[in-house]
Amino acid sequence: MRGTLYVVGTGPGGPQQMTPEALDAVSKATEFFGYGPYLDRLSLRPDQTRIASDNREELDRAQAALARSASGVDVCVVSGGDPGVFAMAAAVCEAIDAGPPEWRDLDLVVTPGVTAMLAVAARIGAPLGHDFCAISLSDNLKPWEVITRRLRLVAEAGLVIALYNPISKARPWQLGQAFDILRTVLPASTPVIFGRAAGRPDERMTVMPLAEADPAVADMATCVVIGSALTRIIARPGRPDLVYTPRFISGESQ
Ligand SMILES: C[S@@+](CC[C@H](N)C(=O)[O-])C[C@H]1O[C@@H](n2cnc3c(N)ncnc32)[C@H](O)[C@@H]1O
Repeated sequence: MRGTLYVVGTGPGGPQQMTPEALDAVSKATEFFGYGPYLDRLSLRPDQTRIASDNREELDRAQAALARSASGVDVCVVSGGDPGVFAMAAAVCEAIDAGPPEWRDLDLVVTPGVTAMLAVAARIGAPLGHDFCAISLSDNLKPWEVITRRLRLVAEAGLVIALYNPISKARPWQLGQAFDILRTVLPASTPVIFGRAAGRPDERMTVMPLAEADPAVADMATCVVIGSALTRIIARPGRPDLVYTPRFISGESQ
């Protein structure tokens, strides 16, 4: 008998940002594979077992989870945010693609989650109100030249850009270079949102114009949202500014 393999996301922040569907999947599984800090977000029962691993071991983790599921265990693979956005659902699919034929016959249930850019956008207004894209700034899995080319093209196309994985100890300069590229395409006044730890107690939202955007404001828990030329800031007396991108665009705007 085979088990079911659930792939869930915890949402970006507190338990209220995890979907009921993901919580239901968690209640059905008995073994949990994931990066330790993500597993820490779950309230597991005594009969549920954690198998924590390093964040860089995604393919190994996916293979281990698939092997346990194939042996009859109901397994849950846990990501932060949404499991399909720069996260474990793709690693599980890659493992199935390259793995033994019997893994294709497993019951795989991927539950959608709240991804970081949505939580950041909701806190600040509606910067994703018109067309947008998400780009991971990590060059661990793709060449830096691919990233810079995509940044230039999507900025020229008028898309709002949500940058995931903007900076880390191993990747300290990439965000500064990304801002330099975007400054050659976008107006200096374009709003840049540094959405840090959205939905968590240490959440911090900072907005600055692209001309002044400082990579030091970002850390690994930050999603950086760069507006388009149409993104606007509404000042509100005694309240935080709202940032939004209008839903309508005239033929002359771009
Ligand atoms: C490996 S990606 C995982 C994304 C995740 N699967 C999601 O859907 O949000 C990790 C990146 O997500 C972003 N991130 C995750 N949680 C966040 C939060 N609460 N607030 C802001 N950004 C967050 C950061 O850019 C971080 O470097």
